Amino acid sequence: MNEILTLTRPDDWHLHLRDGAEMNSVLPHTARQFARAIVMPNLKPPVVDTAQAQAYRERILAALPPGLDFTPLMTLYLTDSLAPAEIERATASGVLFAAKLYPAGATTNAENGVTRLEKIYPVLAAMEREDMPLLVHGEATAAEIDVFDRERRFIDDSLLPLQRDFPGLRIVFEHITTADAADLVREGPATLAATITPQHLLYNRNAILAGGIHPHFYCLPVLKRERHRQALIAVATSGHPRFFLGTDSAPHAIGAKESDCGCAGIYSAHAAVELYAEVFDQAGALDRLEGFASFHGADFYGLPRNTSLIQLRRETWRVPESYAFGATRVKPLKAGESMAWRLMAADEA
Ligand code: NCD
Ligand code: ZN
Repeated sequence: MNEILTLTRPDDWHLHLRDGAEMNSVLPHTARQFARAIVMPNLKPPVVDTAQAQAYRERILAALPPGLDFTPLMTLYLTDSLAPAEIERATASGVLFAAKLYPAGATTNAENGVTRLEKIYPVLAAMEREDMPLLVHGEATAAEIDVFDRERRFIDDSLLPLQRDFPGLRIVFEHITTADAADLVREGPATLAATITPQHLLYNRNAILAGGIHPHFYCLPVLKRERHRQALIAVATSGHPRFFLGTDSAPHAIGAKESDCGCAGIYSAHAAVELYAEVFDQAGALDRLEGFASFHGADFYGLPRNTSLIQLRRETWRVPESYAFGATRVKPLKAGESMAWRLMAADEA
């Protein structure tokens, strides 16, 4: 048996690359499969202006192993104090492709995020004018809101008002986790899209909590119940053009996850395309994988589709227990487990 799946080279529309030695460890995993990635700006300190984004981009390019053709698409981290003029500088730079809204405190390194949406209305107006997409971490953050309801509450409290007040603004609802978000995007206007991670397609919340607490399955937004996972699989494999691949690969050192207060984030860049291939295969929708992974995101962002190809072979391989991560190690999704598809090296075809 020699079953091979050929795809236009995909892009990752939501990625955490970190910085320095940690970035050097994880970047090759992404660059061997993806042509481009939307690089999240939640460094410490965050990437809040064009000059910082340009400098970060240069560090990524310098860390790229020779022979790998990969383009980082940079993003700005929105804060209460960002000047609207920065949006014009950002679009003029040619290297910034979006700005990210983290509600303050919503997730890893979101302490500098936006405290009240009204505070950034002038910036959002500039983005609408400049046609720069707004990427949202779609979770309401008020302390009294149940963790499992935070995405649904964000829709009512923030997303619908945003769409009403900025009808021309393109919005990507990042890493959606609920049937509510899937329905909203499926029925929504052409300006609204969503990314979906491999973990939210492969697992429900039992992975975190059944039979003991499993910190490596903890990410934000947190995994939800099975009915939501099924809704995500349905839209991802439907061929709908406004759902696309965004891994949200978010590496943390093993010790930072296996901790009294463990960090949110799941590392999936080591096998991203293979993980999605398993989902689409199990759903009997392998023919829809290319649209989701390689076309829909580029089309929504208004960027050219890639022209080179990748190939996956149906072949069992075992995911390592951990990978180097700067001076420490990171535990990947499906550590120690076997995978059904393997990405072939460029010279293997
Ligand atoms: C991300 C991280 O670690 O940077 N963590 C996560 O659980 N997804 C931040 C984010 O995207 O929420
Ligand atoms: Zn993320």
